[in-house]
Amino acid sequence: PTVLVLNGPNLNLLGQREPELYGTVTLAEIEARCRTVAAGHGLGVDFRQSNHEGALVDAVQEGAAGIVINPAAYAHTSIALRDALATAGVPIVEVHLTNLHRREAFRHTSHTAAISDAVICGAGAHGYELALLHLAALLDGERP
Ligand code: DQA
Repeated sequence: PTVLVLNGPNLNLLGQREPELYGTVTLAEIEARCRTVAAGHGLGVDFRQSNHEGALVDAVQEGAAGIVINPAAYAHTSIALRDALATAGVPIVEVHLTNLHRREAFRHTSHTAAISDAVICGAGAHGYELALLHLAALLDGERP
């Protein structure tokens, strides 16, 4: 099975974007780590990033065995992405590099988190690996 690891706007700039907040690990490095962790659980990875809300919706609609998503700012704004995920019918784990609860009030609401099975935030790039581990467990039929 192949899982979708989907990344929203500005995450293509990881490594150079506000490194004091988001760290120095690049999205390419995160992709490599995701492939390693997923392969260890017999999963393939379709790793994508888009700055466009509709492209993210399209990617979700293409279908996957499960989804790890960092919707970035669209977590806080996009009902369309939330609705696409709610319709996907597969396990979903949301990731944010930063601890949203420590940040501005406008980041404290995530429409997409509200329909996800689990949310990992504040673990930096490591959060993607944690999310994949949990997604693999959900796909194995483990109940949390
Ligand atoms: C983010 C948090 C969002 O609030 C922000 O808009 C991002 C990145 C994170 O990974 O910490 O772009 O999703």
